[in-house]
Amino acid sequence: MLGYVLGVGKTRFGPSSHAMPRLAHEAIWAALADSGLAITDIKAFVVANFLGGPNESQLHLNSVVAGLFPGHRIPGWRVEAACASGGVALHQALAMLGTYDPVLVVGVERLSGPPGGVLTHNIGMAGDVGLDQAAGLTFPASYALVAQRHMERYGTTTADFDAVSLKNHHNARMNPLAHFHHKTVTQADIDAGPTVAAPLRLFDCCPVSDGAAAAVISACPRGVRSIAVLGSAVSTDVISLAQRAEHTTFPAASDAAAEAYRQAGVGPGEVDMAEVHDCFTIAELVAIEDLGLAKPGEAAALTQSGATALGGSIPVNASGGLKAGGHAIGATGVGQVYELVRQLRGEAGERQVASPRIGVSHNVGGVGGTCAVHILGRRS
Ligand code: COA
Repeated sequence: MLGYVLGVGKTRFGPSSHAMPRLAHEAIWAALADSGLAITDIKAFVVANFLGGPNESQLHLNSVVAGLFPGHRIPGWRVEAACASGGVALHQALAMLGTYDPVLVVGVERLSGPPGGVLTHNIGMAGDVGLDQAAGLTFPASYALVAQRHMERYGTTTADFDAVSLKNHHNARMNPLAHFHHKTVTQADIDAGPTVAAPLRLFDCCPVSDGAAAAVISACPRGVRSIAVLGSAVSTDVISLAQRAEHTTFPAASDAAAEAYRQAGVGPGEVDMAEVHDCFTIAELVAIEDLGLAKPGEAAALTQSGATALGGSIPVNASGGLKAGGHAIGATGVGQVYELVRQLRGEAGERQVASPRIGVSHNVGGVGGTCAVHILGRRS
């Protein structure tokens, strides 16, 4: 056993008027309350954040977060791995448990500050600035290349992307903390959406969200509500698409998944649910294949069969995913674990998956440059 999640907390993901410290405070104290611990019990903390510098002119976020608990001086670190910051921070925190226990992990991000063009440029820093950005590849454009190649190689269609979007928007209606909780999305809405980067349209893209998520972890469980971390792996690949031989799969994801499954002693067939990094609808299909939940080229058929819907054999993104749940970049990987913990405890309300025992989270930075995979399990 790598450790246990003792408690989780999360803000709503979506536009917020709150500054990063206030968002982090809300998630941290919710996680502490959930764990039954006080901040004075925490021995160290890790902060996940991507764009505090470019967006908010605020770096040194470990010290910013320390300001939320003055007088309780403990070691703190900031972890940055683009959109995988949260998953990588959790992996780091688990590795620290031999020295510090318990450890608090908090992911926080504010994206709604800068104007659209500036934000698109800043998010582009997750890709290769010299090669990809210089060639005009924004993030949606990079994933559009992945989508085009998947369509060419496997016959995937825009109707398959629509199926992912409709499913995740449907799930978000049952998640009060989701960015698009308030919005019913139909095929007509999708069809009316403008093209962002062909073939990707508005409803293929995740939105721009603010938010925070936190988890308290320990080497020892605290009662039956603790959820075991059975596998935790991170893999890092080259940053530029131009340096990759194939764009329909992310080797960092399949490598991290293989290692996490090995640690957990389970295979993809034993997974009951997955929270995956669907920053664009095509990314969910690639994730399903990289996690081994479907063979290469078969994620679209799995999705169209209804298997990845709530009530299906392998529900994917019961939370609404990034697409409809929101993508507060540095917080996303921790937010995925929040969802798995709530589901594994049977606390997910309307969107509860039927008796899950094993859940997997898949958090990607850049266009497959970094991937963190975690496997969580209910204690029997
Ligand atoms: N999906 C569905 N609806 C969306 C949306 C999305 N991704 N983004 C915005 N909208 C909706 C808004 O809710 C709003 O609806 P309303 O008029 O009913 O209130 C409308 O579209 C206009 O919103 P606005 O914020 O002006 O959209 P935009 O055109 O500035 O931004 C995108 C749209 C797709 C460009 C933006 O969401 C984006 O950049 N997403 C990707 C973010 C990203 O790359 N993250 C990192 C990925 S790894």
